Amino acid sequence: MGRMLNIALPKGRLGEQVYEIFERVGYGCPSILENNRKLIFENEDTGVCYFWVKPSDVAIYVERGAADLGVAGKDILLEQCPDVFELLDLGVGKCRMCVAAGKGFRDDQDRTLRVATKFPRIAADFYSGKSREIDIIKLNGSIELAPILGLSDVIVDIVETGTTLRENDLEVIECILPISARLICNKASYKFNYEQIGRLCGLVTDFIRKGQ
Ligand code: PRP
Repeated sequence: MGRMLNIALPKGRLGEQVYEIFERVGYGCPSILENNRKLIFENEDTGVCYFWVKPSDVAIYVERGAADLGVAGKDILLEQCPDVFELLDLGVGKCRMCVAAGKGFRDDQDRTLRVATKFPRIAADFYSGKSREIDIIKLNGSIELAPILGLSDVIVDIVETGTTLRENDLEVIECILPISARLICNKASYKFNYEQIGRLCGLVTDFIRKGQ
């Protein structure tokens, strides 16, 4: 067997779901399920070392080679544009990137549209494609508050179940793109660990095709 594969998982429910896929295809690491505050888990038998990182930091670990592989949402990849290979759509963490606003909102084309978002690049690309002038208000969370308090006209944000929008009297105006979790890989690592990484990808792909 080659060297250990370092895999950065996003801390939280998505990371746990993806770990389950890896486990099912033979890359388990039982100690990861122990309830403690450890961040690194190694299994010499399967040749993998997992670590939990903040979801928005996964791509940085992979780009810089601290992790060979990682799992990141397409939203984060489009926003950060890291220099990594995107190997697989893992088919989990599905949601949509949407424009939303208060019920009854009508866009006044004569005015600059104020857009609150955690995703300034995605929002800027989307509106520049429509040649619509916007003012981006970058926030870090609870984006739904912005139109309610008059900080923005609309928001560009992730919608999963739609509950947050509904409970705050907001609605989707336009869908920008579908999002899901992707397996990403460090470029040099892909070259040097081609066999190991290819094997893991093959097993994961088969597992996803079989409908889990
Ligand atoms: C995300 C997103 C929405 C919510 C959508 O927030 O920003 O607020 O989930 O999910 P729903 O459609 O199922 O209600 P997150 O939980 O990441 O927290 P945040 O407020 O820090 O962005």
